[in-house]
Amino acid sequence: MTPLQTLSGALEVDTDCGRDLKAFARDVHSGLFSNPKRLSCRYFYDAEGSLLFERICRLPEYYPTEAEKMALEEHSSEIADLYPAPPTVVELGSGSSYKTRVLLDSILSRHGSARYVPIDISPSILRQTAQDLTARYSGLRVTPLIGEYEEGLGRLEKEPGTGRLFLWLGSSIGNLDRDEASRFLLRLRAGLTPSDRLLVGIDLRKDPDVIAAAYNDSLGVTSRFNLNILSRINRELRGDFDTNTFRHQAIYEEAEGRVRMYLVSMREQSVPIVDLGVEIPFRAGEAIHTEDSYKYSPAEIHALAANADLVLSRHWLDSGGRFSLNLFSRR
Ligand code: TRP
Repeated sequence: MTPLQTLSGALEVDTDCGRDLKAFARDVHSGLFSNPKRLSCRYFYDAEGSLLFERICRLPEYYPTEAEKMALEEHSSEIADLYPAPPTVVELGSGSSYKTRVLLDSILSRHGSARYVPIDISPSILRQTAQDLTARYSGLRVTPLIGEYEEGLGRLEKEPGTGRLFLWLGSSIGNLDRDEASRFLLRLRAGLTPSDRLLVGIDLRKDPDVIAAAYNDSLGVTSRFNLNILSRINRELRGDFDTNTFRHQAIYEEAEGRVRMYLVSMREQSVPIVDLGVEIPFRAGEAIHTEDSYKYSPAEIHALAANADLVLSRHWLDSGGRFSLNLFSRR
């Protein structure tokens, strides 16, 4: 975890790469020797993966980004009005902060100033974003944190505040299973004071074809994004994956309300990963599970709040009813 200072020109970023690489190596090793095989979705977001994800967010089929932005446009001034004084906005997994700008616009026009603490695991995108935002908003103090959510939250707990707005957008909560999601909200709750709020973007259950298309775009960007995790193993651990022999697969399981994402080996093969000193055997058709994306009904969102001991004080939808914004606070 490395704090970046408010920035003007060049920025020194020490991302503690050695330790990150060790964790990556360990997780790749245990995941690819598991049965069934799996790789953690946190490793999608290196510099290349973060750029590809930004492209996913601009795809016509990937409705969550636009739907969430529309919901924010409709309700951001109401959110800004909840705070009597300039708030600190803390964002988990901020990426390019594209949608956050809608909220920052409202907050700055209401309060004149604010502090913004974006937390992200991709230093490249965080650096760019912090520079853009600092240039765009004169009243905004940007203090980014590079690292996983847990590290960022731990750091914030050392400087307790009040009147903060925690943001967890993009339906990232959907990448946890339903129990993990409740537990993570409980964890967030522990850091909330009574005057803090937590705004969570959650994708909704809907027409299965619409959901399936969002994860199987016609340009194949999602496929490249998913396959990038194998290229990352090639780059960082001297793996020898031939990404042409794996294909992206995303299946929406309607009963479970989740999309399951896989990389499927199209033939029997054995893939060396030099830095791990191993060869990974694949059967033809064998899949690596890379990510799930859970969708919620309004009733499931209420249950989530109850399980996390949080009050769901607002539950807004975009005008198309595709996506929800949920404002939680402590009971
Ligand atoms: N959080 C995003 C989501 O669940 C991540 C995502 C979008 C994703 N498309 C993907 C992950 C394709 C893996 C593959 O909507």
